[in-house]
Amino acid sequence: MVPTDWEGRYQSGEMPWEKGEPSPGLVDFLTSHPNLTKGTVCIPGCGTGHDVCAWAKAGFAASGYDIAPSAVKLARERIENSGCSAQVSLGNFLTDNPPERFDWVFEHTLYCAIDPDQRDTYLQAVLRWLKPGGDYLAVNYLIPDTDGPPFGTTRDELWNRPMHLTLVTQRLVASLPLNTPPVGAICRPQESTG
Ligand SMILES: C[S@@+](CC[C@H](N)C(=O)[O-])C[C@H]1O[C@@H](n2cnc3c(N)ncnc32)[C@H](O)[C@@H]1O
Repeated sequence: MVPTDWEGRYQSGEMPWEKGEPSPGLVDFLTSHPNLTKGTVCIPGCGTGHDVCAWAKAGFAASGYDIAPSAVKLARERIENSGCSAQVSLGNFLTDNPPERFDWVFEHTLYCAIDPDQRDTYLQAVLRWLKPGGDYLAVNYLIPDTDGPPFGTTRDELWNRPMHLTLVTQRLVASLPLNTPPVGAICRPQESTG
């Protein structure tokens, strides 16, 4: 199976990213920022919806998107079973136009899932899906892999490429049991991107 055959991977259960819990970095962030204005948040590549539920339980209007129909189905089941209120839709974050623009875009392991050749497209998508002045929150794993997914990245690659995003803050965040600690960062599109 092609590693980026996401639907095939869900159907065969070949999902090593599925840890049965929300991103610890996200939980860490939401716990340590209880007074955020509760706006809208888009979670692209949401998988089975753990992070969608975490945002919804924290009081945000959460909308997950995934390219794999089976992930959407599993995420919707999770939301229904957990009693939280959120939406999950089938879609391609890189190419679709958003149904609305969001106060937040949060991602966990979508950036490392796409082909590195698509990273500029990814960053354009972030700008398209975020409201002007919105916040982009990402948990990135600084791994060396070039034969992904997951595809590795470095601090230099993350922050020195022409992102048209301004880094607001970054720090190490709580990690899934992987070898390399992730970096969580909040960025804002620059004013001129409108
Ligand atoms: C490594 S998994 C991570 C899932 C989830 N974020 C998590 O942390 O458990 C990558 C996810 O991104 C989805 N995906 C890949 N390319 C996508 C795209 N262009 N638009 C939306 N989702 C995409 C895949 O179907 C898969 O669910």
